[in-house]
Amino acid sequence: MNYFKKILRYALPYKMYGFLNIGSNIFYALFSVLSFMALIPMLNVLFEKETALRVKPEWSGLKNLKEFVFDSMNYQITHLTDSKGQMIALLYMVGLIIVIFLLKNIFNYAAMFFITFLRNGVLKDIRNDLYKKSINLPLAYYSEKRKGDMMARLSGDVEVVQTSFLSVLELIVKEPLTIIFTLFGMMVLSPKLTLFVLIFIPISGYIISVIGKKLKQESSIAQKEQGFFLSLIDESLGGLRVIKGFNAEKYFLRIFKESTQRFYNISNKLLNRQNLATPTSEFLGVLVIAILLWFGGRMVLSEKTLDAASFIAFMGLAYNILTPAKAISKAVYSIRKGNAAAERVIEVLETQSTLDDKVDAEAKQTFDSEIEFKNLSFKYEDDWVLQDFNLKVEKGQTVALVGQSGSGKSTIAALLTRFYDVNKGQIRMDGIDIRDVKKKSLRALMGLVTQDAILFHDTVKNNIVFGLDHISDEQVVQAAKIANAHEFIMNLPNGYDTNIGDSGGKLSGGQKQRLSIARAVLKNPPIMILDEATSALDTESERLVQDALEQMMENRTSIVIAHRLSTVQKADTIVVMKDGRIIEQGTHKQLIAAKGIYKMLVDMQEL
Ligand SMILES: Nc1ncnc2c1ncn2[C@@H]1O[C@H](COP(=O)(O)OP(=O)(O)OP(=O)(O)O)[C@@H](O)[C@H]1O
Ligand SMILES: [Mg+2]
Repeated sequence: MNYFKKILRYALPYKMYGFLNIGSNIFYALFSVLSFMALIPMLNVLFEKETALRVKPEWSGLKNLKEFVFDSMNYQITHLTDSKGQMIALLYMVGLIIVIFLLKNIFNYAAMFFITFLRNGVLKDIRNDLYKKSINLPLAYYSEKRKGDMMARLSGDVEVVQTSFLSVLELIVKEPLTIIFTLFGMMVLSPKLTLFVLIFIPISGYIISVIGKKLKQESSIAQKEQGFFLSLIDESLGGLRVIKGFNAEKYFLRIFKESTQRFYNISNKLLNRQNLATPTSEFLGVLVIAILLWFGGRMVLSEKTLDAASFIAFMGLAYNILTPAKAISKAVYSIRKGNAAAERVIEVLETQSTLDDKVDAEAKQTFDSEIEFKNLSFKYEDDWVLQDFNLKVEKGQTVALVGQSGSGKSTIAALLTRFYDVNKGQIRMDGIDIRDVKKKSLRALMGLVTQDAILFHDTVKNNIVFGLDHISDEQVVQAAKIANAHEFIMNLPNGYDTNIGDSGGKLSGGQKQRLSIARAVLKNPPIMILDEATSALDTESERLVQDALEQMMENRTSIVIAHRLSTVQKADTIVVMKDGRIIEQGTHKQLIAAKGIYKMLVDMQEL
């Protein structure tokens, strides 16, 4: 119920549609009762039961409502029969029934029409919020979770919330109202028979809810499984080359089949249980009808306390209760199922980012003097990745990080851009701890070229502009030229408007790298972080890009990570790392002269 309330908050902007729906449903319920009541006078005409009434009946209070209404109808019919004949009277009755049924269905459609906007609106807004949340959550959130799980929540779970919860929303007014109005109509016809129905409703309700008990749990397992195989699809399609190259299709197919088998099993259970709702309530309903037939039949035949036409109408009404009763029991099941999905949706929406800006965080506009890593220690999970790391980067300097794979170089870049927070020590920019700076303003000061070029299914131009506003085509071309990418872009079928495919799949590794360099160049930030930015280029291209980058970095502060040591010789400081610690530090000349690890690495690469 708690989740239901939270989801309901999303309906608030659409409440107007809700009211229109309620209004339509009130009329729907009213006309659906009237449609059965209207049968009575017609049946009476057919059976010629009613004695003609030629005096207009007088209103004598609510207590005699039934007599008044029926007498009025009788009076009208008598009047019609007298003036126009029996067949015409019958025709009028048929016409009345058609009109009432028509109105009932028009209001039914109107109710569904209005609620549609509310349902789809809520679906849209929850999805938007979920997506916003999912791109705002810190990277650390995803290291333990599968991407597919998030995808399942964004697609499947939201859908379930829409179909289950919100269809319930529709039922909340419509079906109970129909039941109440119908009961009222039945009460007017025969209070005694109505009593039987009233006793039976809570009993059926109980039986139905017992059957639906395990639905939530089963639904939750099913959604999780869906997350698993969505993940698998995502990863397999992304890694098709490797899967094919290593003949791993069989392995992946097996894992996938196991997952869909589990999904099959749990979905079968779930659906079969859910499908029990309608037959169970229908059968329970027919039991009620049977009891009514027995008692009502006796009232008509032997007790003569009920006339046949009223009895038939009463049975019609009793059957009319079955539909909403069935709908309600189905809704009970829906809520159970929807609860599991809503829980998964709300769980994401309410996840507190561990990297939220402080309330009094500073919006830093400029980078003025220095970046300082101070006694910094960091771990992703249990093992320390960086320990007691100390480094100063003055404004305008280029600092190169070199060292063996896994020594923590990329981690430094991730900490500086505050994708993660340090565990011990601090990173200070112009003397301010970066945790006291607004993340957006911090990242606006930095340009990042990641180790693996990250591109999107979009045009070359959009991949370079990437989120920046007011960029002219000339600026894009300029950036591409600096990154030595202009030439190959012009050779693409549509130049800058060529779509580069999923993750830039239509480009070579070096081309992808040059695009991501162009992207950082265009952003033109005071601080550049280049993580193996030119590693995929051939020597000549690398030389070209390197020259351009060096030119660009002249008045800029940069942190350059590189394996190919020839590319960092001109750096103001070269930092040699091993196992998360700095083991050597100095200029190229100093380090060569020191004849330490750096010299050894350089010698090895020169060979
Ligand atoms: N998201 C992560 N979760 C857990 N551990 C991680 C994560 N990213 C990196 N690590 C670990 O942190 C250590 C340092 O990784 P990092 O990426 O900083 O190395 P690197 O120096 O950039 O190496 P390379 O030269 O191969 O790029 C590695 O041992 C790695 O296993
Ligand atoms: Mg790295």
